[in-house]
Amino acid sequence: MFGDAMNKITEYSDVKFEEIKNNIKTYSESLLLNGVIVFKKLFASEDEQKQLAVLFGNHSGWVPNDSQAVVNGLRYQENHELSIKLKESSTEESDGILIPWHLENPYANDPEIGALWNNINFKCDSKFGKTGFVDMRKVYKFLPNSVWRDLVDKSEWRFPWLERVKPIVEKHRVTNEKILRYDATHFYLIENFVNGVEPSSVEIETFKEIFNWVINQIKTNEDTQQWHEWDEGDMVVVDLQVSCHCVTDGFLSTEREFIGYWCFAKNVRDEEREKESLLLTKTLTSMVGMEDPNKDFY
Ligand SMILES: [Fe+2]
Repeated sequence: MFGDAMNKITEYSDVKFEEIKNNIKTYSESLLLNGVIVFKKLFASEDEQKQLAVLFGNHSGWVPNDSQAVVNGLRYQENHELSIKLKESSTEESDGILIPWHLENPYANDPEIGALWNNINFKCDSKFGKTGFVDMRKVYKFLPNSVWRDLVDKSEWRFPWLERVKPIVEKHRVTNEKILRYDATHFYLIENFVNGVEPSSVEIETFKEIFNWVINQIKTNEDTQQWHEWDEGDMVVVDLQVSCHCVTDGFLSTEREFIGYWCFAKNVRDEEREKESLLLTKTLTSMVGMEDPNKDFY
């Protein structure tokens, strides 16, 4: 089972909402340091969850915060019903992972950079439906040589359906640390550019090696992975600028559900973003069950 050799996630037990509020600076520092923190069995109301999103926003460089609200697209509710159905109807053998490792919409202009996941229903065994996290600051730090580091530092990648390049390495909005923002779902083709131009054949080969190494780090390196086993009432606060994450399977949609609040760098989810979300959802949904387009790449 995934995450059995569990790297301990930063958990706070027996903490009450008021205590978090009163010590928000300390908890925000912990979030910035660890990438993800968990308040065990907090059983926060939705109003408290909303307040926490704002309180963490004041110290974690995201919206909502005291000076800006998010105009729309903040709240969602998730029981993974669709993913479970798709997985059940798939002919592939189960690999134990329901939602593959991914960064949250890294190709978007204004991706989700944080989230609060407030569990409202957990009825299955805690060894199922785990959430795995990998801090992409660590993966950047672990890059084994300066040739790779120099290449990713000066390179961009492009999601083929959007006319937009994104840097492979981003700086953290608060701490300025470097983050490898190279998407790991590898469910779609990624084109790479070096200083805005097509890579040379040598660089293409190096990208292949880096890509394989990154995927391997995320999927198999227990020094980079952190696993959360859920209990009803748990509140996960996650920095999604740094956290690649996945969900393991083994539960029914009636057994595990949470209310999520997304956090962003900007306060307005503009029309472009809405269209972009639809396009991406449509594209990715249509690719479910398709042969991996990158299979020759790594
Ligand atoms: Fe996600």
